[in-house]
Amino acid sequence: MNDRNRIAFIAGGCRGIGREITLRLAKDGFDVAPSCRKRGPEAESLAEEVRKMGRECRILELDVRDREGARKVLEAAFGDDAPDVVVYNSGIAKDNLFVFMKESQWDDVLETNLQGFFNTVHPLIFGMLAKRGGRIVVISSASGQTGQAGQVNYSASKAGLIGAVKALAREVGRKGLLVNAVAPGVIDTEMTRDLPKDTVLPLIPLRRFGSAAEVAGVVSFLCGPDSTYIHGQVIAVNGGLVI
Ligand SMILES: NC(=O)c1ccc[n+]([C@@H]2O[C@H](COP(=O)([O-])OP(=O)(O)OC[C@H]3O[C@@H](n4cnc5c(N)ncnc54)[C@H](OP(=O)(O)O)[C@@H]3O)[C@@H](O)[C@H]2O)c1
Repeated sequence: MNDRNRIAFIAGGCRGIGREITLRLAKDGFDVAPSCRKRGPEAESLAEEVRKMGRECRILELDVRDREGARKVLEAAFGDDAPDVVVYNSGIAKDNLFVFMKESQWDDVLETNLQGFFNTVHPLIFGMLAKRGGRIVVISSASGQTGQAGQVNYSASKAGLIGAVKALAREVGRKGLLVNAVAPGVIDTEMTRDLPKDTVLPLIPLRRFGSAAEVAGVVSFLCGPDSTYIHGQVIAVNGGLVI
């Protein structure tokens, strides 16, 4: 498979795990369109790094909670030429025990993690189907697979994404569009910076947090030539946290 000039859109592709996914797909030969809410130095340095690799990088500014805004940005960016790969990586956590959970904590997490998937993937799906090929990769979480205390909102959103991936895979497989989820465990990013390592590390058989690059490597595999019969699956990247 020759990936030259193929385009990957990465929702939330300028920071953390998403940034590594953007860089890895650029290394794999994709031109990339990572999104962020507000373009800043981090996005500019990412674009510079991609261009040094000889690939194009178009930063898209969008908030995945803003349905109309996201649709407009995506239509302006891609028009009738849908990307070959879409990675839905945007996500937030606002943890609290359910009994104390504020409406805003529930709404913010569901709107970003689950509604955001609809708001960014739905505008592109018709064009992707018309191309009769391509890949959609959704970043879920181990919390969506098992449920996590203190994360009823986050677990619900990430389990919702798994359901969406499985159902969408059943709908679009015959059109040659492959849809899969990646479920990271505990990955070393801003999101996990404040986790108590003393408590968390003993739960992970590999006794370390994963790196964003280790997640990006699996996304790369799912977007590449060696995963053509993997469809509707949830690939865990968790050091054995969930077995
Ligand atoms: N770190 C972990 O241990 C872990 C484990 C399992 C799953 N995950 C999942 O992996 C994904 C990336 O997480 P991370 O660890 O890299 O966290 P992070 O460093 O906090 O990055 C969060 C990403 O989500 C984007 N985002 C947040 N709210 C958004 C919104 N309203 N609209 C558009 N984009 C928005 C951010 O984009 P901006 O640049 O606009 O801020 C950023 O790219 C998330 O879906 C997360 O749930 C992470």
